[in-house]
Amino acid sequence: MSKILVVGGAGYIGSHVVKALQEAKHEVFILDNFCLGHREAAAVLGCTLDNGKLLEADLLKPDSLDTALQADGGGFDAVIHLAALSQVGESMQQPLMYYENNITGTLNLLKAMHQHGVKTFLFSSTAATYGNPNSSFTNDGKIPESHPTEPINPYGRTKLAIEWLLKDCAKAWGLTATALRYFNAAGNDATAIIGELHRPESHLIPYIMGALYGRHQPDGTLMQFKIFGDDYATPDGTCIRDYIHVSDLARAHVLAVERDIAEAGKQLSVYNVGTGRGFSVLEVVKGMEVALGREIPYEMGDRRAGDPDMLVADPSRIMADFGWKPERTTIDYISKDILKWTERLAAHSWNWPAN
Ligand SMILES: NC(=O)c1ccc[n+]([C@@H]2O[C@H](COP(=O)([O-])OP(=O)(O)OC[C@H]3O[C@@H](n4cnc5c(N)ncnc54)[C@H](O)[C@@H]3O)[C@@H](O)[C@H]2O)c1
Repeated sequence: MSKILVVGGAGYIGSHVVKALQEAKHEVFILDNFCLGHREAAAVLGCTLDNGKLLEADLLKPDSLDTALQADGGGFDAVIHLAALSQVGESMQQPLMYYENNITGTLNLLKAMHQHGVKTFLFSSTAATYGNPNSSFTNDGKIPESHPTEPINPYGRTKLAIEWLLKDCAKAWGLTATALRYFNAAGNDATAIIGELHRPESHLIPYIMGALYGRHQPDGTLMQFKIFGDDYATPDGTCIRDYIHVSDLARAHVLAVERDIAEAGKQLSVYNVGTGRGFSVLEVVKGMEVALGREIPYEMGDRRAGDPDMLVADPSRIMADFGWKPERTTIDYISKDILKWTERLAAHSWNWPAN
């Protein structure tokens, strides 16, 4: 059993990572400032201020990190860092906020780890570090880790800068770091005790569910499902993405952190976490219609600036190194899991359901 701090553990992916680590019998602490995360998610996972497993701290407040790393006698075996601002459009409008929260925040976290002798770090990176796929570097259209990293927005650049930072810390002070470049996380835990609740919602599948169930965005507008463009260079003209079930993604974290704790001194490893299979927006819609047994109305809109035609992972490296493979990643599983979660959310006026 290892003692692991999950930074951003009250967020969507973070809460699933916490659950997977607990199931693998690790001792898990959540650090979050709740700017986007949910106290209820931490509570349902048994992490509260009262039992000391929830550490309310802010990456931009170094003193709070210093205190957090001394929780329960300190001596953390690893930090898993998922805390970030991660909306591409917002990052274009407010780059300084993104650079500050994501880069300065990670710098502060690494400084505190260095000071407290924590040498294993798992980082939530993203497919956005690649930028537009270049067919000279893809395998059958799939992006390997060796693809050039040329992010096209501030969000992606903050994540790439952090990868550089990790590489330098690994060389300088023996940090063992792994960056997992996620493709599109989707779905939720099969129990639906935790799930995705972003405000505003911008991810395709929860957006479709919100539109089906009459959800409003925080500015009061009713969600209405619009597909952004049908003139991409794909068979049906809509964008293709690689959707990875969040529980499969969470399992990849457990494998990576256990390897890194056991094999210190590995420096920086980088892995894509995706399925290697892409679905167009229209294929997602059709798959969800079959799984849910109901029609999904949509409007066809114009394409958005900066959306690549296709983003699909070549996941062979993580499969080879960890024997990891996606188990729940089908549109059917994702739709049925998210249906349970959406019904709970809708019944609680789109607030985190009280348990
Ligand atoms: N959702 C995806 O499909 C996807 C894809 C690629 C990468 N990622 C990355 O995965 C990570 C998790 O994404 P998510 O969808 O779960 O996001 P999320 O917003 O649900 O979770 C992020 C968490 O970090 C916390 N946080 C943010 N800034 C903080 C700060 N300064 N101090 C303390 N806590 C802070 C938030 O309160 C929240 O709980 C992010 O780093 C994101 O960039 C997500």
